[in-house]
Amino acid sequence: MKVLVVGSGGREHALAWKIAQSPRAEKVFCAPGNGGTRLVAENVPIAETDIAGLADFAEREAVGLTVVGPEAPLTLGLADEFEKRRLPVFGPTKKAAEIEASKVFAKEFMERHRIPTGRFRVVDSFDQARKVLASGEFGYPVVLKADGLAAGKGVVVCPNQKKAEDTAGEMLVQKKFGPAGRRVVIEEFLRGREVSFMVVSDGLRVQPLATAMDHKAAYDGDKGPNTGGMGAVSPSPLMTEKLFKEVLTTVVGPAVTRLLEEGRKFKGVLYAGLMITESGPRVLEFNGRFGDPETQAQMLRLESDLVDLLMAAVEEDVLREEVRWSARPSGCVVMASGGYPVHYEKGKTITGLDEAESIPGVAVFHAGTRFESGSYLTSGGRVLGVCASEPDLAGAMRKIYEGCGRIYFEAMHYRRDIGALKEERT
Ligand code: AMP
Ligand code: GLY
Repeated sequence: MKVLVVGSGGREHALAWKIAQSPRAEKVFCAPGNGGTRLVAENVPIAETDIAGLADFAEREAVGLTVVGPEAPLTLGLADEFEKRRLPVFGPTKKAAEIEASKVFAKEFMERHRIPTGRFRVVDSFDQARKVLASGEFGYPVVLKADGLAAGKGVVVCPNQKKAEDTAGEMLVQKKFGPAGRRVVIEEFLRGREVSFMVVSDGLRVQPLATAMDHKAAYDGDKGPNTGGMGAVSPSPLMTEKLFKEVLTTVVGPAVTRLLEEGRKFKGVLYAGLMITESGPRVLEFNGRFGDPETQAQMLRLESDLVDLLMAAVEEDVLREEVRWSARPSGCVVMASGGYPVHYEKGKTITGLDEAESIPGVAVFHAGTRFESGSYLTSGGRVLGVCASEPDLAGAMRKIYEGCGRIYFEAMHYRRDIGALKEERT
């Protein structure tokens, strides 16, 4: 069958790479793709947000499975349009994707169904926000979250009342996050360690993916601003069998069932970002998609066929597949443009890719790259994900950093501590 991957990041390169290995995938397309996806798929110049354009293409080419990477097309109703046209699609409908797109919906949903999460209040005016903050009900630090999608920047941890009031003003009065700031969640600050937990859902039942740990901060030692993710390892060193069962039975299992009951059947990857606190796991956020860069690390460990798994979900029979993961841990280190995640330049020449990939076991997934006149150029903030899977994590990280050492582009930066356990946030 023909498979279409929607998106242009490292996650999409890893998905297309794995899909291309399936005997069922006779042809793989990536829209719009990047400099690396062209090596495993045919890049199609259609924007990920051009829903009608993507659906027309899938119809014309008789695409048998469309896999959606990023959240934007999902919240624009890509899955709804594809389902309407009877085109098989892996990804939640707009209504189901609200679990990611609206923080207010997600928090109220968790409260309704007793899914463990931090205590919170929703406010829609600065006055209301000030009252809640002045009451000291959550203590400090406190976390403020703009309601809608804000490219990972709509969450602010505020150390004191002054900073919290200023942030509430930026969100609710100055509209720094646009319409996403019409409503704001004020949430208790949770202490502990973060774990990412993902499942493939067919709407009713779930197949867990290998666990992963993401490193969100820009610099070593979890310093600097939050990014989309600077690196990941799989499995998460923090996951135990007991915790795995607990998250499955108290968080993701119930979430999928309750979404179905509320008329929001969730087909796709449900991703729970969790804080493991002293009193157990608490949901920080849900995403309705694969993680980036977690996927890059996970795909290196996936031994069974990805197309089979995703088709089983699309056909609402996800448990028919046996999903097998290599016991060998894997890692992914993101090489980013200088200045990312704030201001950065594009168009820098990348060298050393072949030298890095000539190390046995090293895979380089492209994110913000384009191929032009025989060279690879940077075209985004996160540029490359250098990955490897080895008998132990330390060995995988050594190989990865050896690979990073062979790659160069002007002003590049990457973390040197991916895979190291984060300090507990206290
Ligand atoms: P979110 O987009 O909601 O996952 O938030 C982004 C990041 O902010 C998380 O990965 C956490 O590091 C941090 N964060 C979010 N909510 C809380 C919370 N209630 N307590 C502590 N840290 C939080
Ligand atoms: N790496 C975090 C995310 O994909 O949301």
